[in-house]
Amino acid sequence: MVVAASNIVIHRAAELWHVTSPVAFPASSGTIRRGRLGERFRFEALSNVGLAIDETTGRILGAGDFHQIKARHEGAKVVDHGDGVILPGFVDAHLHFPQLDTMGSHGKHLIQWLETFIFPAEASFSDAAVAGETAGRFTKELAANGVTTSVVFSSVHPIAAEVLFSAFEASGLRGVVGKTSMDVNAPAAVLLDWRADIEAQEILIKKWHGRHGRLYYAVTPRFVLTSSNDQMKALADLHARHPDTFVQTHISECEGELKSVAQAFPEARDYLSIYEDYGLINDRTLLGHGIWLTESERERVAGHGASVVHCPTSNSFLGSGLLDLKKTCDAGIEVALGSDIGAGTSLSPWATMLEAYKIQAQRSQPLEPESLLYLATLAGAEALHMDGDIGSLDPGKLADFQVISFARKPILHERVTRTRSPAERLFATMVHGDDRILKRLYVAGRCLHDA
Ligand code: GUN
Ligand code: ZN
Repeated sequence: MVVAASNIVIHRAAELWHVTSPVAFPASSGTIRRGRLGERFRFEALSNVGLAIDETTGRILGAGDFHQIKARHEGAKVVDHGDGVILPGFVDAHLHFPQLDTMGSHGKHLIQWLETFIFPAEASFSDAAVAGETAGRFTKELAANGVTTSVVFSSVHPIAAEVLFSAFEASGLRGVVGKTSMDVNAPAAVLLDWRADIEAQEILIKKWHGRHGRLYYAVTPRFVLTSSNDQMKALADLHARHPDTFVQTHISECEGELKSVAQAFPEARDYLSIYEDYGLINDRTLLGHGIWLTESERERVAGHGASVVHCPTSNSFLGSGLLDLKKTCDAGIEVALGSDIGAGTSLSPWATMLEAYKIQAQRSQPLEPESLLYLATLAGAEALHMDGDIGSLDPGKLADFQVISFARKPILHERVTRTRSPAERLFATMVHGDDRILKRLYVAGRCLHDA
C-alpha cells in the first residue's frame, strides 16, 4: 500500500541494528524471552535502510530497504545520514546525577569511597546553582552518549531533584528520577528527616511523575544502611500511595557492604528480605548490582518481577565482584545495564557494554555482541515496562534512535573494513565507540543532538 503524506520522514542510512521487541513478533518466530539472554531474542540488521517515521505522532511506521520504504511512502521527506548506522537510543538504568564530577576518585572500596568522596560531593547539591549547572551538563552528556532514557539517583536535597527534572524537561530526553532518601549513618549535610523527605517527594511526584509521557519518579532509598526503620516504612507507604512510581536502590554490591548489613540487621534472613519486609520489591523495582545475591534471593527477585541493573564499570572500578550474569538470567531475573557513574567510569554505553563483556569473559561466559546490545536497549525498556514504546525500532514504537558514524573515529573506521557481519561491526564499535561517533540523537522523532 502506498501512503501519501507530508508528515512522514524517512531516515536513510547505511545500516540499522536493533534487538527486536517480542511484542512485534509472533511467538513462533520467537527467540526472545524475558529475563533470558542468548539466542532467545532476535538481532535484526538491515543495510541501505530507510526508517519511516510519522512526525505527528513521533512513532515508527516501518524500516526496510530504503527504496521499498520510499515507494511505500510517496512524498515523504528524506533525511540522508550517508554512511551512518541507526540504532535505538540507549537506556542507562542506573546512575547518579550528583556524581558526574567525582568519577575517578581513587582507590577505595564502596563504603570508604562513599564516605571519603561521595557524601561530601553530594552535600554541595543543596545549592540550587550547583545542581542547576551540573544538571545542564549531565543531560548534555547523556544525549552526547546516545542515551535517550535514564534512571537517575539525585541527591537527598529536594531542590536538586527539582532542577534535574527541569533539565530533563528542557533537554527532551526521557528520565526516571528519584530524590535519594537517607536519614541515618552519613554526614548531616546528606540526610533529611523522613517526614520532610516524604513531603518533598509528594510535591515532586505531583509535579513531575508522568509529565509529557517522558518524565517519571522513582522512590529511592539509597540502601538499607542509610535509612531508618521509620524512613523505610514511610517510603513503602509513599510507593503504595503512588503505585505507578518506580523504586530504585542498591543491593549486594560488595562483601564489605554485606558484612555491615548483617551487623545492622542481625534478625534479617538475608539482604533482600529487608526490602521485602517493607514491601519495596515488586515489578517496578530496579536493584543496582545484585552481585552477591544468594540463590534464594535470586529466585525471589525473579518471583517479584523486579530487575537487577548490572553496572560493570562500577564493579570493576570499586572491585565489587563479578556478577554471574548467566545465573542471574537463568533464575528468570530481568537484567538491565547501568553506568552507575561516579563509581562507573564512563557515561558511554559502548564502554558499559564492553565492560559487561569483559566481566563475563572473566567468568568464561563471553557474551554475544547481540546480547550486549539487548542489555543496553530493550532490556532497560523491559525493566521499566516501557518496551511497548521504546527499546527497539519496531513499527508502532516511538522513534527514539541514534545515528552513529564509524568515520568519526579513524581507528574504528579502519577496523570495520575488516569485519564480515553486522555483529562483528557491532562488537568492534563496543571496543572503539564513545561520544565521538554519535552524529544525531532523536526522541520521538525529534532531533535533540546534532554533533
Ligand atoms: N551503594 C550505596 N550508595 C551507592 C553509590 O552511590 N554508588 C554505588 N556504586 N553503590 C552505592
Ligand atoms: Zn549506584
